[in-house]
Amino acid sequence: MVFYTKMIFAVLFLCFSATCVIAGDPTLEFEWKVTYGTIAPLGVPQQGILINGQFPGPAINCTSNNNIVVNVFNQLDEPFLLTWAGIQQRKNSWQDGTPGAMCPILPGKNYTYRFQVKDQIGTYFYFPTTALHRASGGIGMLKVHSRPLIPIPYDNPAEEYPVLLGDWYNKGHKTLKSILDSGRSIGRPDGIQINGQSSKVGDANAKPLFTFEAGKTYKLRVCNVGLRLSVNFRVQGHTLKVVEVEGSHNVQNLYDSLDLHVGQCMSVLVTADQTPKDYYFVASSRFAQHPLSTVAVIRYVNGNGAASPELPPPPPENTKGIAWSISQFRSFRWNLTSNAARPNPQGSYKYGKINITRTIKIANSRSSSNGKLRFGINGVSHVDAETPLKLAEYYGVADKVFTYNLMKDEPQEGDKVEVAPNVVNGTYRNFVEIIFENHEKTIQTWHLDGFSFFAVAIEPGRWSPEKRKNYNLLDALSRNTIQVYPNSWAAVMTTLDNAGMWNLRSEMRERAYLGQQLYLSVVSEARSLRDEYSLPETQELCGIVKSLPKPAPYT
Ligand SMILES: *[C@@H]1O[C@H](CO)[C@@H](O)[C@H](O)[C@H]1NC(C)=O
Ligand SMILES: *[C@@H]1O[C@H](CO)[C@@H](O)[C@H](O)[C@H]1NC(C)=O
Ligand SMILES: *[C@@H]1O[C@H](CO)[C@@H](O)[C@H](O)[C@H]1NC(C)=O
Ligand SMILES: *[C@@H]1O[C@H](CO)[C@@H](O)[C@H](O)[C@H]1NC(C)=O
Ligand SMILES: *[C@@H]1O[C@H](CO)[C@@H](O)[C@H](O)[C@H]1NC(C)=O
Repeated sequence: MVFYTKMIFAVLFLCFSATCVIAGDPTLEFEWKVTYGTIAPLGVPQQGILINGQFPGPAINCTSNNNIVVNVFNQLDEPFLLTWAGIQQRKNSWQDGTPGAMCPILPGKNYTYRFQVKDQIGTYFYFPTTALHRASGGIGMLKVHSRPLIPIPYDNPAEEYPVLLGDWYNKGHKTLKSILDSGRSIGRPDGIQINGQSSKVGDANAKPLFTFEAGKTYKLRVCNVGLRLSVNFRVQGHTLKVVEVEGSHNVQNLYDSLDLHVGQCMSVLVTADQTPKDYYFVASSRFAQHPLSTVAVIRYVNGNGAASPELPPPPPENTKGIAWSISQFRSFRWNLTSNAARPNPQGSYKYGKINITRTIKIANSRSSSNGKLRFGINGVSHVDAETPLKLAEYYGVADKVFTYNLMKDEPQEGDKVEVAPNVVNGTYRNFVEIIFENHEKTIQTWHLDGFSFFAVAIEPGRWSPEKRKNYNLLDALSRNTIQVYPNSWAAVMTTLDNAGMWNLRSEMRERAYLGQQLYLSVVSEARSLRDEYSLPETQELCGIVKSLPKPAPYT
């Protein structure tokens, strides 16, 4: 194999009076080559984006507080960036991998990401933020384990299996991008893939997704890496116990099937307690006009017999299905006594007692500008600037690149949008409430970089301040994505205590590409290393800052 992983223990001796302790966190180093290569997730060969020859790409398997170093060689013919969605990048938006935070890696060049998975556990995935690259690959799983000293609220599983599933288009990323650039929608996907494969019931050649040994319990880490569709997944004859959602340990409940919206991840335990034979893992679209589905085989070791062609039924669709899905969302509660990345219980952080300092209410819109399709938020449709917003701000030339607060904190009348970089001044350490209103007929998922937020409510209809009395202010999950059903709203809360330039985006790639995203600029006026790292020495520069003198580093 081309890729290698090296572990270096950077050991530091800290001495207090007469005793010395070993501190310092291990570093995991990766070297990744990003190339084109043939893949066929739906059985149709096409050009894919591979990492070290693999699709999905190699998993990053690490532990809380590990330092991660990834030297990415871009061997594609277009600029490229990877983001580590859900990894909070404390004080370090420099490594976040969005076009608003850093310059893209040019073809033939390499860039070394350096970041720490500080005080986090959980299941995440990385993916390309440039162009429509995610439609062709460049995705992989990122797992953060608890440190050995911190007990997790379930027994260690016999094995862990990654499951990256989602909708898929047989048109490559270049074709899809040219459709969007011409002002049209990419339309509906062609199918659903699971770990780069798809198969039909009765397909005798289907390679098993993974194997179970009777009596053992397995952990499946599942992410929806698609571009558009919510997915429901289930396993024939087996129940799913949810144990972790985007970094939170939840109150563990059993489910027959689970909805996973675009960009979301969760860990589930499955016990191999059935007659040893094959079983289908089923993934099917939700709320789609033209339903899509696929299956994958789970094989018991020494099992006898093919999987039954009778699949477990999907949950209801339409209004009933939305109610079903909202009720499942509400069943995900923080386990207040369980610990997360640190030994103190999750519930010791009382988010419900903090006063809200700002409410940002946003509504997504679909419209056209000069005859071309655009998506927007409160009257603004974002476009990336040639100079990354973070660099413009750091160099003191923000006014030459973008205008702060072009977007109002309230939805605007009508669908008309101004096409410009959308940057919101998010005051450092404010405790903000973000309300997402969806006036459209399609489901939305939103993701925020740099922070986890408390997902306190989802309800049908429109939001008003009185709805706050319905918020879950006790045990809502702290996570990084939230779905918003058609003609519904969702509310999240977070403290803006992480200085940086952070992307709030639609997880629907088409919508984000055509403007349904913004950047939250969180600035600590102190210019102090206490609050944020300085621009890394080796950072690539581009746009107007390339020729400017470097500002003095933070102290
Ligand atoms: C992943 O990491 C965990 C903890 O760091 C370790 O126990 C496990 O063996 C690793 N798995 C692989 C496949 O490297
Ligand atoms: C590119 O890779 C080389 C060889 O590994 C490394 O020495 C160099 O630091 C990398 N450049 C960047 C910008 O990361
Ligand atoms: C919550 O976490 C505690 C502590 O780890 C654990 O003992 C308990 O089983 C968990 N409860 C549920 C309902 O998941
Ligand atoms: C929150 O607001 C209430 C009402 O305005 C006020 O009485 C209270 O002191 C505030 N709490 C904090 C921690 O600022
Ligand atoms: C952002 O908001 C803070 C607090 O209101 C203010 O001090 C700061 O000047 C604003 N920054 C910009 C660039 O508008």
